[in-house]
Amino acid sequence: MKNAQEILPANGKLGVLIVGINGAVSTTFVAGVLNVTHGYGKPIGSLTQLATIRIGERNKNNFPLIKDFISLADPKDFVIGGWDIRGGNCYDAAKEAKVFEDKDIDSVAKELESIEAMPGVFDSYYVKRLKGTCIKEGKNKYELMEQIRQDIRNFKAQNHLERLVVVWCASTEIYIKQSEVHQSLQSFEQGMKENHTDVAPSMLYAYAAIAEGVPFINGAPNLTVDIPAILEFADKQGVPVAGKDFKTGQTLMKTVIAPMLKARMLGLNGWFSTNILGNRDGEVLDDPQSFKTKEVSKLSVLDFILQPELYPELYAHYCHQVRINYYPPRGDNKEGWDNIDIFGWMGYPMQLKVNFLCRDSILAAPIVLDLVIFMDLANRTGFKGIQDWLSFYLKSPMHATDKVPEHDLFIQLMKLKNTLRVMKGEAPISHLENEALESARDLEHLTA
Ligand SMILES: NC(=O)c1ccc[n+]([C@@H]2O[C@H](COP(=O)([O-])OP(=O)(O)OC[C@H]3O[C@@H](n4cnc5c(N)ncnc54)[C@H](O)[C@@H]3O)[C@@H](O)[C@H]2O)c1
Repeated sequence: MKNAQEILPANGKLGVLIVGINGAVSTTFVAGVLNVTHGYGKPIGSLTQLATIRIGERNKNNFPLIKDFISLADPKDFVIGGWDIRGGNCYDAAKEAKVFEDKDIDSVAKELESIEAMPGVFDSYYVKRLKGTCIKEGKNKYELMEQIRQDIRNFKAQNHLERLVVVWCASTEIYIKQSEVHQSLQSFEQGMKENHTDVAPSMLYAYAAIAEGVPFINGAPNLTVDIPAILEFADKQGVPVAGKDFKTGQTLMKTVIAPMLKARMLGLNGWFSTNILGNRDGEVLDDPQSFKTKEVSKLSVLDFILQPELYPELYAHYCHQVRINYYPPRGDNKEGWDNIDIFGWMGYPMQLKVNFLCRDSILAAPIVLDLVIFMDLANRTGFKGIQDWLSFYLKSPMHATDKVPEHDLFIQLMKLKNTLRVMKGEAPISHLENEALESARDLEHLTA
C-alpha cells in the first residue's frame, strides 16, 4: 500500500458558480440536484452518487461506494449561483428550456426562483447567434475580468462558503486558434488590457476563477483554459482545471465502439455521424464559426483511439464526417444517427447503424455534478493544472503537450478509479490477477 495523499476534509459549504446558469444543461443540473437532495428523484448517471469502487484483490469482495470510500462534497452542501447574459432566475429558465416536466421544476420552485443570474461578460462577436441583455460594462477585458473576480468574492462571503468551483456551461464560442497572446501569462494579461480579439469571454471567467484560487471546468469545446498562459497561471496559483466539452451522446458512443473495433482488429472505411437538435445550443451551433469549434472537438476522437499510424491497413483511409442539424421541433431531445462502415476477415465489408434517441441535458447534468465534486476533491488534495484523470467526462480531453490524450471510455474509467485508489493509499488495480501471476511464476520455475 502506498502513502495516502493528504486530503483536506469536505467540510462546510461548496459554492458552485455556473457560467450560463440559465441554459438547458445548467437548469437541468440545478433542478436535478435540488430534487435529488430533497429525495424526490435519483441521481442516475452520476458515479459520485451511485458507483462503487473495488478495493483490493477480487476475492476480498470489497466494493464500497465511491462516496463512502473517499471524502466528497455532499450535494446538500452546495450553494449554487452563476452568470447569464439573459438575466432572470433559474425557475423561469428551467421552464423555458423544457427539459424537465413541470412537476420536476415546481417541486423545487422556491429554490430555483432564488437563483438569479448575475450579469455576464459577453460579446456577440464570439457567439454570433446570441444577443446579451444582461451584461457587464467595463473599459477593457481586464476590468471585466476584475468584475467577475469581485462576483466570486462576494458570493463566497455572502454564503459563508468554504470552497468554490466554477463551471462553464455557457454557449460554444467561435473557433479561436492559439496565437501569440495565449503563449504566456504576461502576454495574456497584456492582451486583456488591450482588448485583444483572441481573448474570448470564456477566458476571462477562467482567469478570474484561477486568480481566486477556484478550480475551473470547461464544458464547451472553446479554447478557454487550453492555452499555455492559463495553464501557467493555474500552475502558479496551484489550481486544478479540466476540459473540454462534456462527453455525452454520439461521442460517448464513439469512444465505446471504436475501442471495440480496434480491440478485435476490425477495419474502418468510414464513420458518418449526423443528428437533429432543436435547443438553443443547436441554434448557436448552426453558426458555422461555432460549429467549427464543436467539429474539431468531435473529430479528434477517432484518430487518437484507432492510431492509424500503427495500423495503416485497418485505419489509414477512413472517412469521418460529423454533422449537426438545427431542427427546432426536437428541442433538447436530440436524435443521432451513426453509419459505420467496417471491414473484417479478408476485407469483407459490414455495417453498424446506431440510432440514439437521447436527451442532451439529461446526459450532461450528471457529468456536471461529478466534475464539480471531483474537481473540489482535486483541489482539496492539492492537485493543480490539467486533471487528465477526469478525461472520462470530456469529449476532447486536455492533455500535456508531450502526452497523447486518452479517449477510450474504459481506460478513462480505470484511470479515474485508480487515481481515487492512489489518493487514499490503496493499490491501483492492474487486472493482473493472482492466478496469472502464479502461473507465470510456475512457468519461470519450470523453465529455470
Ligand atoms: N448538452 C450536452 O449534451 C452538451 C454536451 C457537450 C457540451 N455541451 C455544451 O454545453 C454548453 C451549454 O449547452 P446548453 O444546451 O445548456 O446551451 P444553452 O444555449 O441552453 O445555454 C447556454 C447559456 O449560456 C448563456 N451564455 C452564453 N454566453 C455567455 C457568457 N459569455 N456569459 C454568461 N452566460 C452566457 C446563454 O444565455 C445560455 O443561457 C454549450 O456550449 C454546449 O455546446 C453540451
